[in-house]
Formats: sequence, structure tokens, C-alpha cells
Amino acid sequence: MKEIFQPNPAFAQHARIGSMEAYHSLMNKAKDDYEGFWAEYADEKIEWLSPYNKVLDESNAPFYQWFTDGKLNVSNQCIDRHLADKGDKTAILFEGDRGDVEKITYRDLSQRVNQFANLLKNKFGIKKGDRVVLYMPMIPEAAYAMLACARIGAIHSIVFGGFSSEALRDRIEDATAKLIITADGAYRKGKPYLLKPVVDEALQNPVESVEAVLVVKRNNEEIHWEEGRDHDYNALIGDESDECAFEPMDSEDPLFLLYTSGSTGKPKGVQHSTAGYILWAQMTMEWVFDVQGDDVFWCTADIGWITGHTYIVYGPLAAGTTTVMFEGVPTYPDAGRAWKMVEEHKISQFYTAPTAIRVLHKMGEDEPAKYDLSSLKVLGTVGEPIDPPAWIWYHEAVGGGKCAIVDTWWQTETGGHMISPLPGATPIKPACATYPLPGIMAEIIDKDGNPKEVGETGLLCITKPWPSMIRTIWGDPQRYEKSYFGDAVKDGKPVYFSGDGANMDEEGYITITGRMDDVINVSGHRMGTAEIEAVVNEDTYVAEVAVVGRPHDIKGESIFIYIVLKGDPEKDMKKHINSLLAEYIGNIAKADDIVVVPGLPKTRSGKIMRRILRSIAKGEAITQDTSTLEDPAVVAQIEEAVKNA
Ligand code: WT7
Repeated sequence: MKEIFQPNPAFAQHARIGSMEAYHSLMNKAKDDYEGFWAEYADEKIEWLSPYNKVLDESNAPFYQWFTDGKLNVSNQCIDRHLADKGDKTAILFEGDRGDVEKITYRDLSQRVNQFANLLKNKFGIKKGDRVVLYMPMIPEAAYAMLACARIGAIHSIVFGGFSSEALRDRIEDATAKLIITADGAYRKGKPYLLKPVVDEALQNPVESVEAVLVVKRNNEEIHWEEGRDHDYNALIGDESDECAFEPMDSEDPLFLLYTSGSTGKPKGVQHSTAGYILWAQMTMEWVFDVQGDDVFWCTADIGWITGHTYIVYGPLAAGTTTVMFEGVPTYPDAGRAWKMVEEHKISQFYTAPTAIRVLHKMGEDEPAKYDLSSLKVLGTVGEPIDPPAWIWYHEAVGGGKCAIVDTWWQTETGGHMISPLPGATPIKPACATYPLPGIMAEIIDKDGNPKEVGETGLLCITKPWPSMIRTIWGDPQRYEKSYFGDAVKDGKPVYFSGDGANMDEEGYITITGRMDDVINVSGHRMGTAEIEAVVNEDTYVAEVAVVGRPHDIKGESIFIYIVLKGDPEKDMKKHINSLLAEYIGNIAKADDIVVVPGLPKTRSGKIMRRILRSIAKGEAITQDTSTLEDPAVVAQIEEAVKNA
């Protein structure tokens, strides 16, 4: 049996959920009266401008609605309502790559967001419902822009700064965005880098919906300036008043879109709601990280991912805590950077990805011991499975054996944490997401809704709608239904299938086993194999392509590409294909392995047997039955090609 780590009793004493009895009692409450459970929190946590009529409307399933007809505003929820007693408290603690620190109080934040909101309205005519794309580095202006959009009811869509101009353009077009907000660039590993040229390239052929580009000056590097289209944020913002009334938003009005990869086709614009999203962002901050008093919370994600949305900006600010925003990387100038920041800012909760933990462990096993990390109370991980050695190092070397590690399982689509330990309650098994949070009905079932036996892997489904769930895929409601409610049925009703497999032990602990669809997870970044294949297929010398994930020590998974050639390319195909991937998607889509093979293993009906390709990439012996293949001999040929690659 695995070792169990009990909650720290001193921490549990003050925790919001301080025992498993408390956990079970909340869960039972949710089971007995689901709507009543959620209503209680919605009433307690949200500042309603006008009350809702119905907690959960299931009449148009799976297009669920929460807190219908209620009115609220997320920037009020994150800023204004805190001003009376927290005006002088630091809201955002920014640390630049080069060590520059800025403490932005809730009052400062209010002024800047109000000015920003006025700028959007007055200068660019942005109205409720308009889409605004953000292509931003990790600087406070990114958070101001998000909150300014929320204030006036515009829908933001953040595109991660590592995506290429092509990927950016696709997302701008899909959302028919009116305004792009970007920066000249920022700093990374001590050097300036540029972002604006990527926007210029994305808009080289003008996108009809785009009226303007607003540019924040971060590093004052020289950039191209398109007269009439480009506008200088720093020059304009001072003219705007710091009072801008917030727009009363309907509970179900979209707060933002965030594009993510699926198993087929192009990325999907995950649409989140206003009330349900902000409620769960705040509740999970309070339950899973248990932020209290003067706690300082640091989530190392980028705002371009859902983790950055929910746990750098919306969750921490709704909970009235201090959130750290960091421009740089935790390994610069050395592997002690993160630990130095923990010491200097007295960080109490630290939340990062297993990939980062593995890198920091590898680069500086004893580095944490050089710093005073006694302020830490809770450590978190997210985005991919963590392996027990990394978990143990995190627990001992970083947490000094006294901090709970919350291994939080969730997705872009879930808006916030779904399955996670509670730091003051859950006895933790390393590298295990443990139990669903109170109110979350997570089940491991087969496609007909039958529960799986102990230890058996099944579909990880959420069998009741929850407030912060995805509402639809922007512009494609059918794809929403098919992607999430097309695989599993329980009691005759389609239920949400996450795409992940999981199993449960005899004590009900849930372990995530990974994606069951054609999605791979590289350093916690989600990639669709179909999306990568579509890019590789663009090359004239590629006859066929198949992409699989291969286990990787640091990244969790790496991209492994099999290609069948036509003609004789007199070029380095590996280099060439990686440059295509960088151009169409971004550097994060580059493959570690690209192997030319004589053919792909296909069934007689033409379906590629990816399981075989995954096994070969792993270097595993083939145990699958290959007799149903169109050409069973191809398997040995592929193995040979991989060996010689
Ligand atoms: C996929 C979602 C959630 C924010 C970051 C990623 C994997 C997520 C865990 C975890 C094992 C995890 C799943 C999931 N995943 N958290 N704690 N243990 N796997 O968001 O890009 O939407 O990816 O990340 O496979 O489906 P995302």
C-alpha cells in the first residue's frame, strides 16, 4: 500500500474544510439537495445586482444554465466590493524577469481597470458582447485588460504568447474580434523579446472584423507601427477617467473564450459564463488553496491558459487575496529563482506544473534548502500526472514535509478544480488526485453508465452539470454536444465525458490515467494529434502521417511523428517539419522524434492502429493482435526504422 500523508494538524485547525467528516457532510448536502447546495454559496459569495430566479435550468440539456436572470459583474466581484476594507492590500504582486517588483493595491487596480475600461469604450467603441483578443506577456496590463473587458461586458479571448501568427490569426477570425491588445514585447531570461511582430504578421492580410490594435509598451524595443490601426496604450491611458460604471451582466453572459485542442479538427473556443464561473473560481481558491488573511498566492502558469485565467486573475482576486504575477521563468538566473521569490514575498501557496517541478528538481535538487521557505502552507500541481519521485521531492525539499500537496485535476472546460485533495482534510496518497470536490459528481463508468470495478480504468465523467462548466463551443454548438456529451450515457441521459481515463482504489481515491482520446499532453500543454497531422500533411513530400505521444522524463509526453514519404525530398525532413509546426502552431508543437517509415499499420478498413504506434514509440514489445492488419509485416519494418532513426 502507498504511504499516506495526513493533513498537518496545525493547518487543519484553521482550514475552511478541516476534516474528512466536514468534507463528507458537504458532499452529502450536495447529494441530498443539489440546487440548494449551490444556491447557498451563490448567495453567500456573489454580490448580486439583481437576484436569480432559478439555480439550474436543465430544460435545454446539455446547454445548462445556472442562476438564470441574475445580474452581476465580475470586475465588481474581483475589485470594487473589496475596496472598503482591502483598498490598501496588494492585489497583484508583480515581479519582472529582471527582478523589478511592483505592488498593485486593490485601489490601484480599481483605478487602472476603470481607466482601461473607459479607453476600450471611448476610444475603440467596445461594447457588451464584442470580442477582444489579448496576445500579451505576463505583465499586469494583461490582468487589467481582462478585468476591463469584464467590466464593460466585452468577451476576451486570450491567445498564449507562444502561439504563432497563423494560430493567432485563426483564433482572431474564429472569434471575429474587433480589437487586439498586445505589447511590444517583454523580458525573458534577462533579454527583451518581441510579441508585436507576430500580431503584425497575423494581420498582414487584414482581418475584416479587426478595427484596431492596442499596444502596451513594456520593453520599448523598436517595432513596426501601422498608422491608423495601431494605438499606444501608454500615451492614451492617462487621458481616461478612473471611474467607469460596470455593466450589469446576466449570469449566463459569456465572460471569455479560450481556445483549446480537441481530438479532431481545429481548436475549439471554449465559452465560459459569468456567474457560474466566478463562483467556482472563488470557491476553489478558498477550499483547495484555503487562502486566508495576508496569504500570498503564486500560480506560475501563463495567463494564456485556463490555469492563468482562474488561478492568477479571477479566483485570487474574487477571493480578495494577493496574487503573484511573474514575467520570467523559474530557472533564470538560476534554479533558485522560484525559491528566492517564495522567501522574499513570503509566499504561502505555490501552484505549478509537474514539468516545472521535474526541471527544478533536476537542476537544483538541494537548491530549496538555501532559502527560507517557511512561509509555504500549501503546494499545488496541475496539468498532467505527477510521478511519485517528483511528488516526494516537492513534499520534502520544497514543503519541508509540512505542506499538503494538492494534485488538482481539471480542464479548460471545467473552469476550475474538480478532483483534488483538500489541504486541511484529505489524507493524501502521492500522485493521486484523491476525491471530487464537494458538489462535483465525478464518476468512473463505462459508456453505458455502469460503474467500473475497483482498479479498473474507465471514462472519467461528470454526471451532473456544475456551475463553472463550459457552456458551448463558440460558433459551433453541435461540436460542443458531440465532443462532450456524445460518448457516455447514464440513466438514459448523456453525461459529460472529460476525455480522460481514471480508476478508483478500494478507498475511493481517484487516479487519473491520462487521455483516452487523440489528445497529447506536452509539459501540461494540450495538443490535438489531428491538428499536428494536418500541418505535417501540408508538406508536398508527405504521403501519410500519424502523430502519437511518447513518455518523456521532463515533459511528461513528447511528440512523436511517423511519416510516409512520396517522392524524394532533398531536404532535412525533420528540420523542415518542425519549422512548419513552429509556423502554423508555435514552438510548443515541435516534435522530438520524426521517423520516416515505409507504411502505417492500418486495419483493412483503413483505420490507423495508433496503439501499435504508441507501443513502438515507447520501445515496448507489441502485444496487440496484428493479424487484422492489412499488412502485418509493416510492424516489424516500423520497429526497424525507429531503431535506426
Ligand atoms: C487535461 C486538461 C487544468 C488546467 C491545465 C490543463 C490533464 C490536468 C491533471 C492532473 C493528471 C491532469 C488531463 C486533462 N490534467 N490536471 N492533476 N493529473 N492529468 O488544462 O489544457 O484543458 O488540459 O490535462 O488530461 O484532461 P487543459
